[in-house]
Amino acid sequence: MEYKSIAIDGPSGAGKSTMAKALATRLGFLYVDTGAIYRTLGLFALDNGADPGDWNQVEPLLPQVSIRMDYADDGLQHMYLGERDVTEVIRRPEISDAASKISAIPEVRAFLMGMQRDMAKSHHVVMDGRDIGTVVLPEADVKIFLTASPEERAGRRHTELQGRGTPVDYETVLADIIERDARDSGRSAAPLKQAEDAVLIDTTGVTLEESFQLLLQTVQEHMA
Ligand code: DC
Repeated sequence: MEYKSIAIDGPSGAGKSTMAKALATRLGFLYVDTGAIYRTLGLFALDNGADPGDWNQVEPLLPQVSIRMDYADDGLQHMYLGERDVTEVIRRPEISDAASKISAIPEVRAFLMGMQRDMAKSHHVVMDGRDIGTVVLPEADVKIFLTASPEERAGRRHTELQGRGTPVDYETVLADIIERDARDSGRSAAPLKQAEDAVLIDTTGVTLEESFQLLLQTVQEHMA
């Protein structure tokens, strides 16, 4: 069977996961959040006292790591480190930082590639990340590059963290977003960039509902 794939890339806080999840539900596809995989490995590195940005410290850990993705009845992607459900823990700001550092290591990206591609070989997927349209699924049926200004993204993340009961002040969130953007775009291994054949959707000043309608329309046009 031919499986369909939709790649959604873009910087942190652009609304990728919310939009990709809603799109997957609408189309009856599986939503695959690849950032969660890097986050889980980042957590594993920190738990083991390793610097997530240092390949020499990360490499000896890889043979022992067991990362698994599983889908709950509600269709939500849960991440497991061994038997431990780390779905919530990996959302903490220190894990965002660890994921950004560990994901800059080319060997780490190669190590996690198979897991991502396998999902698309066995399901219709909406997959979000940084390099899905450029590296992981270059043959994706539709590619979207979703972005918004750093200030807008920081505002959204600030509200989200407050809602989770882990508030962080706006200036810190903005500085963190700018730092992560620079790291994700500036790295040599699969840097964040728009694929040549991706459709750009900028959600600055656009409501979630409007952005979703634009996304849905774009996907429907390209899949037709
Ligand atoms: O999407 P996110 O914020 O959960 O991603 C966490 C980090 O992982 C982010 O800094 C960039 C990295 N990442 C990546 O390099 N490639 C992906 N496909 C997904 C995430």
